[in-house]
Amino acid sequence: MESRPIPFHKILFVCVNRRAANEICCAHRDSETIAAQLKERIKALGLSRVVRVSKSGCQDLCAKGPNVMVFPDGVWYDGVTPTDVEQIIQDAIRDVPGARALPVPPAPPVPARPGR
Ligand code: FES
Repeated sequence: MESRPIPFHKILFVCVNRRAANEICCAHRDSETIAAQLKERIKALGLSRVVRVSKSGCQDLCAKGPNVMVFPDGVWYDGVTPTDVEQIIQDAIRDVPGARALPVPPAPPVPARPGR
């Protein structure tokens, strides 16, 4: 075995733990979607080699989920929804060499309300 420096500036751990249907867990609150969106956005920004989005098991904070933890920043986001993804990305890449604030993608269209 050899030890090496971690090859990423940041690692975003997204809890995707799934429990039984009647139990609280991040997976029941759409954390798989959040993980996929984070990963997709990092890829679109060309930062996949320096920022890793990694699915994690239970972070033991189930009632607060979905949970995302950013290392080495030591930041924990709880109650994350898909609308929080861009803010998490912008916070995480702020000090990543070579990363720059890129335009935020347009928000998805708002569905028409019935009766309009
Ligand atoms: S299921 Fe996500 S913190 Fe426990």
